[in-house]
Amino acid sequence: MMIGSLLVTVLLAGSPLKLNGDNISRIVNELTTEEKAALLVGSGAKAFDGVGYTTLYVKGAAGTTHPIDRLGIPAIVLADGPAGVRIDDRPCTKFPIGTSLSSTWNPSLVEEVGKAIGNEVLEYGVDVLLAPGVNIQRNPLCGRNFEYYSEDPLLAGKIAAGYIRGIQSQGVGTSIKHFAANNQELNRLYLDARVSPRALRELYLRNFEIAIKESDPWTVMTSYNYINGTLAAENHDLATGVLREDWGYKGLVMTDWAAGVYADKIVASGNDLIQPGSDAHYNRLVQAMNEGSIPMAAIDTAVTRLLRLIVKCPRFKGYEYSDKPALEHNASVARKAAEEGIVLLRNNAGALPLAPDSKIALFGVTSYDFITGGTGAGNVNGSYVIDLRQGLSDAGFALDKTTDEFYADCMRYERFNTKRINSKFDQWFVDAERPAEALPSKDILTRAAKEADKAIITIGRVFGEGKDRLHQFSYLLSAAEMRLIKAVSEAFHAEGKRLIVVLDVGGIVDMTAWQDMADAIVVSWLPGCEAGHAVASVLSGRETPSGRLPMSVPVSYYDDPTACSMPQILTDKPVNYSFYRPAPAGIKKRYDLENIDYVNYREGIYSGYRYYVTEKVRTAYPFGFGLSYTDFRYSGMTVEEDGEDFVVRLDVENTGGHSGKEVIQIYVKAPGRDMDKPSRELKGFTKTGTLAPGQSETVRIRIPRSLLASYDEERCGWATEKGTYSFIAAKNAETPVLARKIRIKDASFTPTGNYLRAEPLFIER
Ligand code: BGC
Repeated sequence: MMIGSLLVTVLLAGSPLKLNGDNISRIVNELTTEEKAALLVGSGAKAFDGVGYTTLYVKGAAGTTHPIDRLGIPAIVLADGPAGVRIDDRPCTKFPIGTSLSSTWNPSLVEEVGKAIGNEVLEYGVDVLLAPGVNIQRNPLCGRNFEYYSEDPLLAGKIAAGYIRGIQSQGVGTSIKHFAANNQELNRLYLDARVSPRALRELYLRNFEIAIKESDPWTVMTSYNYINGTLAAENHDLATGVLREDWGYKGLVMTDWAAGVYADKIVASGNDLIQPGSDAHYNRLVQAMNEGSIPMAAIDTAVTRLLRLIVKCPRFKGYEYSDKPALEHNASVARKAAEEGIVLLRNNAGALPLAPDSKIALFGVTSYDFITGGTGAGNVNGSYVIDLRQGLSDAGFALDKTTDEFYADCMRYERFNTKRINSKFDQWFVDAERPAEALPSKDILTRAAKEADKAIITIGRVFGEGKDRLHQFSYLLSAAEMRLIKAVSEAFHAEGKRLIVVLDVGGIVDMTAWQDMADAIVVSWLPGCEAGHAVASVLSGRETPSGRLPMSVPVSYYDDPTACSMPQILTDKPVNYSFYRPAPAGIKKRYDLENIDYVNYREGIYSGYRYYVTEKVRTAYPFGFGLSYTDFRYSGMTVEEDGEDFVVRLDVENTGGHSGKEVIQIYVKAPGRDMDKPSRELKGFTKTGTLAPGQSETVRIRIPRSLLASYDEERCGWATEKGTYSFIAAKNAETPVLARKIRIKDASFTPTGNYLRAEPLFIER
């Protein structure tokens, strides 16, 4: 025994030091200054603009770290999500976009999606997926809203937590992004988001806080923008103060691609890894270490966090990836999630579900060229797409021949044309060119209306990273789309037949100008590769719709309290992420143009439904809205205290004629005497299982007492006022069903650090 262990010690002493889970501090001591710098700076980028593309290890991944072979430190590979794995030359499953996942209001289902994505991350040789994106959908025109979850931080945080738990259960990592207040794309590298500490804590950080505390992501990615005067990538208050000191986060923080300016400031702020990294970053870090202008302790902490990450990764463990993930299973998960994310907004006169033997006249070029995901880092190079035409045929519906032939002709040209145009652009910062909308002749319409039982029109919108949407050309329906809806509506209504509109969109569009021409409206979002099958399932009633809006839909865009912070700039060039007002290294940041150089979050905490319900401004569809084919009755609501939580319990009965799931939303109205409070806020939610007609389920929703607190800027901490709180079980933000009151006898207060102050920086005009 003694001899055996002696032998091992001798062998170890003689063998070169190699990284293992237990010797990280020894390895840190062993590393040279240059090696430390090499570790903290990524291996660079191979593509345009230094963003998001490497050919090392896994082609098309976003970046890697540097290996140090002599100490057994391998490189690890980082690839984009969130709608699947964004790499080249591999058939990756295109999952539904973030907004579609949050519309399920079902974190366990999203966890299944996470497992399926994690399987592809692992089996394609990637170590960390750069997802989920959880930024608050502050304004409907943000170009990346499709990657994000919601206007509400609780819904966003819970959905993100499910996604992260799922992915990490496969032994690979995630990077929750973009931390924080990255709510618009225009000038995103130089835009200063000026947000009050209260709005930050309650909205723009709380989504991250919930997800991080509930799922412990391996990494966090800071954002491009400034927050109250300091770049997120160089922001000590953010990466160290809030994240580590207030929340106790232990993992690694990385920059977004080419975010931040000075490598030493980046690392000193608590950003441990600079991606994709450049020679300039490396040189500056080596110089700072040599001059002692950055404490070696800060460098060693960052290196330690990176090594702790590396030892968890499959590449370090020598995992031999198969290149063969469970694609068929994963596609079925993608389909299930897409189905549950579909939101039924309108269903007059039983337009849906479709009778099994219906003949459908299918209109709109998007029906034949369905959009399954967005552009930019959130794009996935998927293997196939089921469009709506195929989805309906596979579900056994007959398609009207006249319409089908018209679109077959039209799509032949449009497909060729858009392919030709798209192949000339890099799809990162330019909208994908879509086929032009076509209007069938009066003859075709009259014939179709006579021969088919129902009409379906799909309206599509695709956008993505680097650019926000334009109100006129993306939010509003185009003249051609309006003409098509009007013509089909008139032709079919003249025959007493119904029109269904499917919105295959990455974000909301105007509803007011056209919705009364449609009998049913279904929002499919961008549902991933199984799109057509998922939409057909809901249209046919095979799946009862159970999705709910994760955002409010205003009557007019200009009702949105943040409407004016999205400048509508029209140029003949693509307006990309750095097109405006660059402030390169060494040049003082400009503060001339509001909403370009800086944006004031003047609405404070009153964005989305917090504004609409408090100010009683009518919406087209409220936050949390979604119809079903069946009805649910709520009864027997109770609220009890259980330690530090409140537990809301109620019975939900399916009183209609179809099986289905119900989403139960719990809003809380606070006393609002000592503090300014919205008239209600979402504090908990759950989804039932599938209930057959007549079946009931008792649901229990746990609401931590801490969620009732608001952020007190003067005292720096979370304050809960005493008084009577109403717990409201609701169908959506504007439709309460049952309520119970609870008295909180004593006020309470939990201090935080004093971080991210805004006041001295605010520029009011
Ligand atoms: C995006 C990130 C992405 C990174 C790597 C950046 O442009 O903002 O979301 O993860 O590129 O591709």
